[in-house]
Amino acid sequence: MVGVKDWGLGKEGDWMDATKLKVKENKGESDLRRHAEKELETMLEDTKDFSGMSPKDIASLIHELEVHQIELKMQNNELRRIQGELEKTRDKYSHLYDFAPVGYFTISAKGIIDEVNLTGASLIGIERNALIGKPFSRFVLRDDQNIFYQHRQRLLETETSQSCELRLVRNDGHKFHTCMECMVIKNTSDDLRQIRAVVSDITERKQTEKKIKEYSEKLEKQVDFLQRMEAMGTFAGGIVHDFNNLLTVIINYSNFALNGVGSESPVRENIEKIIRNAQHGASLTHWLLLFSRNQPLERKITNLNELIIDMEKMLRRIITKRINLVVLLEPDLGRVLVDPAQVELLIINLVVNARDAMPKGGKLTLETSNVELDEGYVQNHIAVIPGPYVLLAVSDTGIGMTKEVQAKLFEPFFSTKEKGQGTGLGLSTVYGIIKQSKGHIWVYSEPGKGSTFKIYLPKVKKTACIMERPGKKGESLQGSETIMHAKTLYGLMHAKKFGLEDTAVIFHPSNPFFAAPKGAHKELLNATSLLGR
Ligand SMILES: Nc1ncnc2c1ncn2[C@@H]1O[C@H](COP(=O)(O)OP(=O)(O)OP(=O)(O)O)[C@@H](O)[C@H]1O
Ligand SMILES: [Mg+2]
Repeated sequence: MVGVKDWGLGKEGDWMDATKLKVKENKGESDLRRHAEKELETMLEDTKDFSGMSPKDIASLIHELEVHQIELKMQNNELRRIQGELEKTRDKYSHLYDFAPVGYFTISAKGIIDEVNLTGASLIGIERNALIGKPFSRFVLRDDQNIFYQHRQRLLETETSQSCELRLVRNDGHKFHTCMECMVIKNTSDDLRQIRAVVSDITERKQTEKKIKEYSEKLEKQVDFLQRMEAMGTFAGGIVHDFNNLLTVIINYSNFALNGVGSESPVRENIEKIIRNAQHGASLTHWLLLFSRNQPLERKITNLNELIIDMEKMLRRIITKRINLVVLLEPDLGRVLVDPAQVELLIINLVVNARDAMPKGGKLTLETSNVELDEGYVQNHIAVIPGPYVLLAVSDTGIGMTKEVQAKLFEPFFSTKEKGQGTGLGLSTVYGIIKQSKGHIWVYSEPGKGSTFKIYLPKVKKTACIMERPGKKGESLQGSETIMHAKTLYGLMHAKKFGLEDTAVIFHPSNPFFAAPKGAHKELLNATSLLGR
């Protein structure tokens, strides 16, 4: 039996390789035929003479030839089928390659782009053919050139997979972050080394990482600030009473000494100085007491608008004529549970600071509004409970503050004012008052652009009507009052009478006009427990 090999057609693999290139077209088929005829001629030459062959041998040979011809046709068909499948697979893989979610770059050892998929080309923003042949470094941000150079060196030296983060620049100048994972490959034909790089755009990840970093730094700063203020408050609270007692003793003994010396005595002036300074010291301890939150509170349900309106005249006297005071009050402002005297003090401190920040004049705005501090706000502001708040904002167009000043603002005795101009206790007092009222204060300021102090005080959920004794201003609750919810019949009657629906009505036991109605279900409560949040 004569096989394909016997006919001098070479190895099956060679044949398939040759056929791969040729069988598709007719031209390929005629080439093949020519090749086969030539082979046959050679064979016949070798055989030289058929005359000695019997007709049977010749018939057998012809038969063999015909069988081989059919075999070849069948092989051709099979090859065409395989080639079709190969093309389909190639198309599939080239589609996967081109539209992969990452860019594939094949870069020569000299750094030239040899191949790139469509994703890679669109990352750079250049058409694929135009990109091939260009140095990859051309698209690396100038500041990251060294990273790329070192990465390439390391890769070629070690020939192990390496990855690096690089900023690339698109053709239109847009910069973006990428992660490059590279390996070295050897081209089998010429033994040249190439770098195969998988490039992914990590800009979004980088931005998220940056935001998380900024966010955690911000929260860390807030925690640090709160802890510092807490520690200072505890420290101040610890010493302030002893210190005050000492000053009282100094003042008392100085007064005794003063009484014991004659009006012409040369020591008189000195003793008077001691008393004055000791009194000054005692007044400072009073502010420290407020900061340390050790001052007893006289909390009342308060409307900040009314408080500000009452203070307006006095505030205008405090500020200079060159400052324009603007008061913007929310008409339907919620109530807050605060000590009004302390809040007045707080407002005066902020107004005086604003005045001092605007020596050449400017605008000072006092604004109130109802706000809802939601989860989003709470996530960015540590120790804030979400809910309804009343906002008091004090803004000026003054000199503003640097970040360094802002970091120390509320610390006792921190002042940038000249010696004798400021004690540095103003804002620490403000801080203490707000914290004692379960509120929050935030500062927004830029040098040269003014400052805004925002104070959030929890809005009282259940408003209460404190019945006044005839002829007396509203008095603070003692805990022995009868409190009735407007929902109860008697409560509702009284609440409606005063146009105070959805309120609690408080009956003073000693008030004949507002004594609790007979038969009403009385509840003796600690007033603040009802009124608080
Ligand atoms: N509105 C503001 N604009 C610019 N800087 C301010 C403002 N408010 C406060 N500061 C800065 O904060 C510092 C501390 O203020 P704080 O009220 O505690 O003390 P003080 O005003 O210096 O002194 P004191 O209030 O005891 O008279 C000020 O010295 C100032 O540097
Ligand atoms: Mg001040």
